[in-house]
Amino acid sequence: MAIRCAVLGLGRLGYHHAKNLAAHQISGAVLASVVDPMEGRAEQAAREFGIGKWSRNPDDVFQDPDIDAVIIVTPTSTHAEMIKRAAKHGKAIFVEKPLTQHLDECDEIIQVVKDCKVICQVGFMRRFDPAYAEAKRRIEAGDIGKPIYFKGITRDAGSPPAEFIKHSGRMFLDVSIHDYDIARYLMGAEISSVSAHGRVLLHSFMEEFRDVDQAITYVHFDSGAAGDIEASRNSPYGHDIRTEIIGTEGSIFIGTLRNQNVTLLNSKGSTYEIIPDFQTRFHDAYRLELIHFIECVQNNQTPKVTERDGKINLEIAIAATESFDSGKTVVVKGG
Ligand SMILES: NC(=O)c1ccc[n+]([C@@H]2O[C@H](COP(=O)([O-])OP(=O)(O)OC[C@H]3O[C@@H](n4cnc5c(N)ncnc54)[C@H](O)[C@@H]3O)[C@@H](O)[C@H]2O)c1
Repeated sequence: MAIRCAVLGLGRLGYHHAKNLAAHQISGAVLASVVDPMEGRAEQAAREFGIGKWSRNPDDVFQDPDIDAVIIVTPTSTHAEMIKRAAKHGKAIFVEKPLTQHLDECDEIIQVVKDCKVICQVGFMRRFDPAYAEAKRRIEAGDIGKPIYFKGITRDAGSPPAEFIKHSGRMFLDVSIHDYDIARYLMGAEISSVSAHGRVLLHSFMEEFRDVDQAITYVHFDSGAAGDIEASRNSPYGHDIRTEIIGTEGSIFIGTLRNQNVTLLNSKGSTYEIIPDFQTRFHDAYRLELIHFIECVQNNQTPKVTERDGKINLEIAIAATESFDSGKTVVVKGG
């Protein structure tokens, strides 16, 4: 039987997930309902996707016995409440990163998920991206020896609107958290301390929210390895995601700027199109993470990335924010 899914939140990413489900890109799943409080948003999406159920109130989905699983893509500040309500109604949960913004809420979420015996997968989609998955396989096969340095670059073409930044939890929690997760995954080690710096270079409106548009986190791992993680919202040329893992016997590069394998040559030189945004760069990963989620729901298995990873990644992000605010290196306590 197909897993009947509801997507909560139809913004930049929720619409993308809903579209994948509606287009039958996620085998074993159907899109059954969409929810967004914005006037007309859910109704318009339901019409576009050819589904009968839509609402402006998430409770309609939680209380609907026909819905098996919820895909929570609402603003980060709402995640904790959504997860708890979904779990209490026995829904399988996929929630976008970060799990929440507050550490005390993580323990409550972990307990509720356990007590209600539901599945909870957190949207750290890089683990499902074919290039990162291949890098993981190569590292585990010993192809670069022992990993000793992680380098991550995440540059967004611009900033989301002020209203998003206001609720995002700031740069380390909203953006660098992707690199903290994939660094732990690829290095096979936990981040033990962080030293973070940042500045507003272009988007002066961020000062009101104590946020920055350019940041760097220097990290130590409990394996003895080290790394640096850049995050930026100032990349006028496109969406630039690159990762390098240096090992004792070699190095792995992940990522490319090329949108297609096409190069244009003329008298001015050669050019190629650059990946424009995260939806394009991670199209496969967003699809593959939901396919994995549905398989876990069908087989009652623990997902590859759970609420516990969500808590550890949040601990690192909060430590980095503390380091940025205080100017001091901060030890990550570990979950
Ligand atoms: N994994 C990734 O690469 C990635 C990328 C972008 C965003 N995200 C995460 O996804 C979440 C959403 O981000 P976004 O960029 O799509 O935000 P967005 O602001 O574009 O969209 C959020 C949507 O949620 C709706 N909403 C607000 N409150 C709601 C509620 N109570 N119930 C249902 N819908 C509600 C809003 O009306 C809006 O349409 C955030 O947590 C963000 O961190 C993850």
